[in-house]
Amino acid sequence: MINQSVLQLNQIGHRYDQTYVIKDIHLNVQDGSFISIIGPSGSGKTTLLNIIGGLLKPTEGQVLYRGKDVSGQTGFVSYMPQTHSLMPWRTVYDNIKLASEITHQQNDIDALIERAGFTDIKDKLPSALSGGMKQRVSFLRALNSQNEILLLDEPFSALDELTKFDMQQWLKTILQATHKTVIMITHNIEEAILLSDEVYLLNDKPAHLVQQFHTSHINGVNTELIEMKETIRTLL
Ligand SMILES: Nc1ncnc2c1ncn2[C@@H]1O[C@H](COP(=O)(O)OP(=O)(O)OP(=O)(O)O)[C@@H](O)[C@H]1O
Ligand SMILES: [Mg+2]
Repeated sequence: MINQSVLQLNQIGHRYDQTYVIKDIHLNVQDGSFISIIGPSGSGKTTLLNIIGGLLKPTEGQVLYRGKDVSGQTGFVSYMPQTHSLMPWRTVYDNIKLASEITHQQNDIDALIERAGFTDIKDKLPSALSGGMKQRVSFLRALNSQNEILLLDEPFSALDELTKFDMQQWLKTILQATHKTVIMITHNIEEAILLSDEVYLLNDKPAHLVQQFHTSHINGVNTELIEMKETIRTLL
């Protein structure tokens, strides 16, 4: 059978101590799709992303990348962590360059910086940037990699609504020029519906994916979005 999934999660379960945090997670991610995972705080979203990124080996189950078991192995995906973790002594340019340095890739960082509108700040240190700008730099750093899968852990958290809207538009524009498969964690239901093709809800204890919503056709705030938002809110 031909499998078009770029990433497959097979019965993933994880526990840090006796109690399972997540259990029985199945997910098929299609090439080039944008999926969001929403769940309450502490439900295991970062745990799941760490498992997909290979930073954690799941207690149970497998992570398959193009059919190959890569559970517990890093290097197959790019990861924008929940806290930006920029290196304070490196400039914006040098922070973005980090991923390509590690993998010895020759990426056109200047082109990426120009596309993002960052030419004016590329020589600044992170301490001179606002929280929102740091998040964008962290996003560009994850994007500056040949990996086709991009994991984003709450990329717009701690931003006010206006900045958030701005950054969502910016992210959409930047991503249009790439062909990445994106898995985004978020608390924001509207953001998930507007940006992604599919939204999954992670809930209950231990957490599993309780429901899937197809959202690729919703590109603006309309009645369908408002109704879906309400449905999701009642399920969380
Ligand atoms: N290294 C660890 N050791 C022990 N327990 C952990 C560890 N990391 C996370 N946990 C626990 O696992 C549960 C899920 O944590 P996780 O960070 O995955 O949640 P989350 O959904 O990302 O939360 P948030 O929305 O607040 O970021 C929490 O109860 C947390 O305390
Ligand atoms: Mg988290």
